[in-house]
Amino acid sequence: MTSLLKKPVVDAINGQVVEEFTASSQYTAIALYFDSETLPELTSFFHLQASEEHMHALKLLQYIVDAGNQPIVPATKEVKNHFESVEEAVQLALNQELKVTEQINNLVGIADKENDYLTHQFLQWFVTEQLEEVSSMSDLLNIVRRAGDNLFRIEEYLSRNPHEAAAGGGGGGAAA
Ligand SMILES: [Fe+2]
Ligand SMILES: [Fe+2]
Repeated sequence: MTSLLKKPVVDAINGQVVEEFTASSQYTAIALYFDSETLPELTSFFHLQASEEHMHALKLLQYIVDAGNQPIVPATKEVKNHFESVEEAVQLALNQELKVTEQINNLVGIADKENDYLTHQFLQWFVTEQLEEVSSMSDLLNIVRRAGDNLFRIEEYLSRNPHEAAAGGGGGGAAA
C-alpha cells in the first residue's frame, strides 16, 4: 500500500510507541510494588493503567500499519522498580503523564509542520486522553498527600471511585 505519511511523521509516531510501552511497564512495576505492600486497590488501579498504556502503544502501531507503513516494535526504556513510599510512586506516575502530554503535543506539531491533517486528527484522541490521565493522576496524588500515613484512606478512595479515571481509556475492552 502507498504510504499516506511522511517519514518524519512515521518516525515520530514510532518514537512515541517506545514511551507508551515504557509507561506500561513502569505502571506494572508500580502495581507490583503496591501489591508487595498489600494495597489491593492501588495495585489494580495501576495494573489497569498499565493495560491502557499497552493499548495506546498498539493504537499508534496500528495507525502506522493502516497508513501503509512498517511499524517497529521497540524495546522499552529503563523502568524504576524500587520505591520508598506510595507518594514517590504516584508522583513518578504523574510526572510521566506530564511528560507524555508534552510528547503528544510535539507529535501534533510535527504532523502540522508536514501539513498532515490525517495524523493531526488521529492524534486528537491522545490529546483528550492526556487531559484525563493527568487529571486522574493528580487527583490521586492529592489524595495520597492528604492521607499521610493512613494508607487505608487511599484504598477507600479508590474503592469508592472504582477506576473512574481509567474508564475513559478509550475503546479499550478492558476498561471498567
Ligand atoms: Fe499513554
Ligand atoms: Fe497515560
